Amino acid sequence: MPELQRLRADHAPALLAFERENRAWFARTISDRGDAYFADFPARHRALLTYQDEGTDHFHVLVADDATTILGRFNLMDISDGQAELGFRMAESATGRGLATEAARTVCHLAATAYALTSLRAQANLDNLASHTVLTRTGFTATEQTVLRNGTAGRRYVKELAGPEEGAAGAIGAAGL
Ligand SMILES: CC(C)(COP(=O)(O)OP(=O)(O)OC[C@H]1O[C@@H](n2cnc3c(N)ncnc32)[C@H](O)[C@@H]1OP(=O)(O)O)[C@@H](O)C(=O)NCCC(=O)NCCS
Repeated sequence: MPELQRLRADHAPALLAFERENRAWFARTISDRGDAYFADFPARHRALLTYQDEGTDHFHVLVADDATTILGRFNLMDISDGQAELGFRMAESATGRGLATEAARTVCHLAATAYALTSLRAQANLDNLASHTVLTRTGFTATEQTVLRNGTAGRRYVKELAGPEEGAAGAIGAAGL
């Protein structure tokens, strides 16, 4: 079973490969990161680890059974006043197996327990039915419509967390937390 790991410096090569190999797949539903992201990847990765150390973000990668390949990213971002934004993306080859739902469930559990957050926000393109399914299955409620960064119509979601009493983690385990 794949494992959720807190982002580390040594994830950089596998994470860059994940982003490169799935760039066109992601661009079908979410904003393309742009060429500069790939050119500046090492500095960008170091910056993410700094944010994580400072506690403004918690980044996670979903690592395959081979203990190297990255299958997905599940991030809690812009933490303030006990709230964070959940963002996720899966490698195209790993979709359709329920992995995003299970990993998102585990991240929600971590948010409530390890990170002591009280609520999560998320947003998705109105057409992104896979994302909508993952969010509603993990306890998010759709709220108002919005305009996403790429200018398309989206929907906001919210999930209140129950603290240490938050429901069980997903079938995917977490390490390094
Ligand atoms: C959204 C995403 C993370 C889902 O990953 P996943 O591992 O396939 O998700 P799961 O398998 O846990 O659940 C997805 C569900 O949506 C369903 N689904 C997928 N595409 C669908 C579509 N076009 N219409 C309706 N349902 C769809 C799947 O069948 C599955 O439901 P099922 O278990 O009943 O079969 C993945 O598609 C992805 O990374 N997409 C690109 C980036 C992205 O959109 N990120 C989210 C931004 S908000």
